[in-house]
Formats: sequence, structure tokens, C-alpha cells
Amino acid sequence: MMIITIDGPAAAGKGTLAAALAKHYKLVYFDTGMLYRAVGLGMVLDGLDPENEVAAEQKAKELTFEKMMALSTHQDFRSDIGGRAASKVSALPKVRAALLKMQQDFSKNPVFPDGTPANGAVYDGRDTGTVVCPHADIKFFVTASAEVRAQRRYKEFLAKGIQTTYEKVLADMAERDKRDSERATAPLKPASDAIFLDTSEMDAEAEVFTAIKEIERRLAGI
Ligand code: C5P
Repeated sequence: MMIITIDGPAAAGKGTLAAALAKHYKLVYFDTGMLYRAVGLGMVLDGLDPENEVAAEQKAKELTFEKMMALSTHQDFRSDIGGRAASKVSALPKVRAALLKMQQDFSKNPVFPDGTPANGAVYDGRDTGTVVCPHADIKFFVTASAEVRAQRRYKEFLAKGIQTTYEKVLADMAERDKRDSERATAPLKPASDAIFLDTSEMDAEAEVFTAIKEIERRLAGI
């Protein structure tokens, strides 16, 4: 069983790396941000305030894999609306508690979406190396400058046909990173044993190459 965690701020390159490592090591990719996006967007679609802890906790408790996958096709799941709502619900301790067990159970018994057992998982999130899987085999903390991250997210939005401006993406991201880093429960921070990866000047290929080299070094006990 191998558990890899990848934490870091928005658009730092976590998803790209997680998907590539999952493929390389034949592990299942667990994008934990989807849980928070599903709860946040669920609140918005029901006309509820994402900061309403009682209602958000209820949504988190009722969340199933099927509900999350259905919500993930909504146009605002990945937009700034979904991101902001996710960040708001994720600051609520009761929401985090409701989603924690599900994430921890998965690490004991990881399965691919079709139900086939997996030999491990790659977690992508904010607290996966610190709170969800503190005993993970390999932990990464992936960062990049705010400008580079906003530029990447802006291009992703344009490619998806989402209308926005670079300045708005940069401001939204700064607000979300601040909330994620300053919340009292499970804030965004590197695990003490995390491998740091600054992707500001790396393309996806260089990022994956560097990460695999580091994993091999760690596994070899270097
Ligand atoms: O990674 P993604 O941008 O999809 O995450 C959306 C939001 O969910 C983050 O801004 C953060 O507030 C929250 N999140 C979290 N803990 C995680 C994953 C995501 O608080 N492990």
C-alpha cells in the first residue's frame, strides 16, 4: 500500500501532479477538493448561505460519491463561484469533521471508481498530509507564485468558456488562499516531512519528473 499526499494553494499544479503520479504508480487519484466543492455548490444551488454551519454540516453528512459526481458536471463546480463556496464551507469545523472519516477510510481501502481495489492512493488537497493521512509514505507541498497560479487558472477558465479577467482570478485566489491558510481547523500548511516543490518555473513535464525523482530517492532511503 502506498499513500502519497499533495497539498498546496490553488492552481499550484497539484492536480496535474496527482493524476500523473497515480498513473505512474497505478494508484487511485483522490481529489479531496471535490468534496468541499460539492458541499459548497450544493449550498449555493439550494439558496443557502455557505457559512451556515448547521445546514452545511447536514449537506456534508448526506454527501455520497454519486451526488458528488453528479454535481461535478455543473458549470459552476470548477468556477470561482464553486471555489469560493468550497472555501467558505471548508472553514467550518463541523463540515471538515463530517468529511474527514470518509477520506481516512478510503486510505485504508482504496478502490478505483469502478470498484477495483487499488494498491494505494494519491491525495490532492490542503490538509491531506497534515490531518487526513499524517502517516502517508510520501508528502508533497506544491507551490508557485500567486501571479503564475492566477495566470494558469485564468487560462483554464478561458479554455472552458468561463468569462472572467486575470485581475478577478488573482483577487479571488488571494481571498481563497487567505481563508484556507488562516482558518483554525486544518489550515493550509506544509507537513513537517513534506517535500517542497515550487512549480513557478516548471512545466507539467518537469514537475512530474522532479517529483518522481524525489519519490524514488525517498523509497530508496536516500
Ligand atoms: O483544490 P480545490 O481548489 O478544488 O479546493 C476547493 C477548496 O476546498 C479549497 O479552496 C479549500 O478551501 C477546500 N479544501 C480544503 N481541504 C482540502 C481540499 C480542499 O479545505 N483537503
